[in-house]
Amino acid sequence: NEIKIFSPATVANVSCGFDVLGFCLDTVGDEMVIKKTQEKGIKITKIEGFNLPLEVKKNVAGVAALAIYNDAKPECGFEIEIYKKIKPGSGIGSSSASASGVVFAINELLGKPYSKTQLSTFAMKGEAVASGSEHADNIAPGIFGGFTLVKSNHPLKILELPTPTNLYATLIHPQIEVKTSEARDILPKSIPMENAITQWSNLGSLVHALHTNDYHLLGDSLQDVIVEPYRSKLIPHYNDVKEAALNNGALGCGISGSGPSIFSLSESLETAKKVEKAIQEIYSKTEIEFYTFTSKIN
Ligand code: HSE
Repeated sequence: NEIKIFSPATVANVSCGFDVLGFCLDTVGDEMVIKKTQEKGIKITKIEGFNLPLEVKKNVAGVAALAIYNDAKPECGFEIEIYKKIKPGSGIGSSSASASGVVFAINELLGKPYSKTQLSTFAMKGEAVASGSEHADNIAPGIFGGFTLVKSNHPLKILELPTPTNLYATLIHPQIEVKTSEARDILPKSIPMENAITQWSNLGSLVHALHTNDYHLLGDSLQDVIVEPYRSKLIPHYNDVKEAALNNGALGCGISGSGPSIFSLSESLETAKKVEKAIQEIYSKTEIEFYTFTSKIN
């Protein structure tokens, strides 16, 4: 009647896959405790870590919980405790981790009536509270694990992509907040055909690289000619970090979700650690607080 879960951080977009591609990290995530109650309805009883609303309809996890609850119409209610470890506005799927975690947990307590895709649909309702639009590129890797591609939103169709055996992600999170809604507002409404061609060529190549375990092609495909030019301006020292990562052996480097976190991918733990150190050196010279971590992608 009670479940404790870990809901992982995720990286959305992955350079060339704006709003469709994502992968799951396994070292950082939120913890939640969900309890079945006799009294009907959803209640958030505790939030630790960050100052977020306890009011169910204003809370990402609350809205996601209501979505699954109203569909399932069970003869019980649920109480939610949230131990938030992922800072909101960090670009590593903070809101999505809360939304995915709560629907996963409620599904378990109900005896698993829903598929992972259905759970993602419920979680998207919560995510929309934070980002202003429904997209599943953080939700899907959180619920399915590994790399995922959102084939379509309506109806929601998620493809699970294979993960190369020895792939590591290094993240740096500068302690500045970039609101997803604002990072979306600055994007152009239309794009030149030439850029579209480059982007879909890279996205197709990246998917092929994942299927064929081709690290070289993977690195070559990690380019973003559409979103990065706008959003990188919101992230201090972005170009320096990218240069340091690539010079130290990273396969590629880009903005994690809507930023300000920056991700790099490396072929081995040894390279990933080297990349992490080089990136730390860049930010150590600034006044901005930051933290870094490296995670295997599973
Ligand atoms: N794909 C989304 C974006 C992820 O980049 O705006 C952040 O929620």
